[in-house]
Amino acid sequence: MPTPVRVLEWNGASIWVFADAPSACCAAADRIVQVIQSGVNNRGKAVLGLATGATPIPIYERLVAQHRAGELSFADVTTYNLDEYYPISPADPRSYHAYMHRQLFGHVDIAPNRAHVFDSTVPEAFAAEHVAQYDRWIAADGGLDLQVLGIGRNGHIGFNEPEELPVEEALRLPSRLVDLHPVTRADASRDFGAEPQVIPRALTLGVAPILSACSILVLAFGTQKAEIVARSVRGPMTALVPASLLQSVPRRVTWMVDEAAAQALGTGRG
Ligand code: GLP
Repeated sequence: MPTPVRVLEWNGASIWVFADAPSACCAAADRIVQVIQSGVNNRGKAVLGLATGATPIPIYERLVAQHRAGELSFADVTTYNLDEYYPISPADPRSYHAYMHRQLFGHVDIAPNRAHVFDSTVPEAFAAEHVAQYDRWIAADGGLDLQVLGIGRNGHIGFNEPEELPVEEALRLPSRLVDLHPVTRADASRDFGAEPQVIPRALTLGVAPILSACSILVLAFGTQKAEIVARSVRGPMTALVPASLLQSVPRRVTWMVDEAAAQALGTGRG
C-alpha cells in the first residue's frame, strides 16, 4: 500500500496526505480490498457504499485490474450507491447506473441483484417509499462495512446539499429526494453539456445512513477542494458544510487527500 507523506488529525478524524492523487487512489483501493476480504472471511459477505464523480475512477480501475488478474472477487460483495439524478433512465449515459456499469459493475463478477443504485424511474409519488426501502435493505444486509465518499466543492456528501438546518436535525436526515445546489449544478454541467441541461433533482443516501457505516473513507483531490476540505475537518460542524457532519463519528472517518487538497489544513492536531 502506498504510504502517506504525513497523517494529520483534526477533531479526531485521520487525514492521510499523499504525494498525489494516484497514490491516494492506490491506498484507497487497497483499503477497499481489505474490507472485502475481511468481510467475506468473517461474515461471508462484504457490504460497500460506493460513490461516483471523477475522484474514484482510478480506484475502480485498480479494483477491475485486480479482478482481471484473478486476485479479487466480488461474488460475495453487496454494494449500495450513494445517489442518482432524478428522474433518469439507467440507460442514460449520464446516469450513475451507467457510470457504475462503465467503471466497475460491467467488468467484475458482482451479482447484478447485489449492486444497488437508486431507481430513478420510480414515479415521484413512490420515491419516498423507494428510498426508505433502500435504507431498510442496507440495514437488513447488516449495514455498510465501508462507505466511500467524494466531496463536492460546496461540501456535499452524496447529494446531501448545504442547507440551513440545526446540526441535530441534519445528522438525522434520511435518504430522500433533493434539489441540487447551484454549485453542484454548475459542476455537473461537465456531464450534461451545459448548466440548464443538468437534471436539477436527485435521490441521495441520507446523512444518517452514511454516518451509520462502520467506516467511512473520504477522498478529495486538487486545489479546488482545498478550502472545503479544511472547512469540513477543522469545523465548525454545520449543515451548511454537510461533510463537516462527519465530525460526529470521527474515529470511523479517514480522509485520503493529495497535497493540493491538503494545502489549507495546516499541521493538524494530535
Ligand atoms: C458528485 C456526486 C458526489 C461526488 C461529488 C464530487 O456530484 N454526487 O457523490 O462525491 O459530486 O465529484 P467529483 O469527484 O467529480 O469532484
